[in-house]
Amino acid sequence: MSKRVAILISGSGSNMVALAESMVGDHPARPCLVLSNTPQASGLAKARAMGIETAVVDHRPFKGDRAAFEAVLHETLRAAAPDLIALAGFMRVLTGDFVRQYEGRMLNIHPSLLPKYKGLDTHARAIAAGDTEAGCTVHEVTAELDDGPILGQARVPILPGDTPATLAARVLPMEHTLYPAVLRRVCLGMRAPIMLP
Ligand code: GAR
Repeated sequence: MSKRVAILISGSGSNMVALAESMVGDHPARPCLVLSNTPQASGLAKARAMGIETAVVDHRPFKGDRAAFEAVLHETLRAAAPDLIALAGFMRVLTGDFVRQYEGRMLNIHPSLLPKYKGLDTHARAIAAGDTEAGCTVHEVTAELDDGPILGQARVPILPGDTPATLAARVLPMEHTLYPAVLRRVCLGMRAPIMLP
């Protein structure tokens, strides 16, 4: 039976689209839900256009009460009965208590070569540090932010004159290759890290 994958987004959902488009044919998984923490996320319409069920759990009415927000998030996810959860540009920090409920079953993509540049503004920080390469990482989500076991990385060069925007535009297509590749492997029980290209 296919594994069920819930994809959590906050924005344009380009990684969600790449994941969803990969889950066809003999792929061992199918998307069961695309969930956003903001009703404005343009990825929601893309998911609906692909025939995927969507949900919104808006974090704002909870006014910083993370436990209450996560209780509703958990209920909404539970209803979709996912085997795996893929964070794809989901920009809320999840508490350790929440994450532990999905130990080993939650993946994230982060736009840096972890362990470098956890958190935000990854591309600006890589450029400011004078790095010659950047990239993205798919990892298991653990209680520590951007810290779980690495499942795959893809590298790109940082070129003279790069800005955070030009670098992001070079990294994003690599995310769209890496994340589906890792998801497929995880669904097949393979967790040894892959390195692209
Ligand atoms: C992606 O670059 C992803 O790596 C990043 O947000 C972007 C979402 O784009 N995620 C993070 O920064 C997580 N801390 P998308 O909505 O088009 O997939």
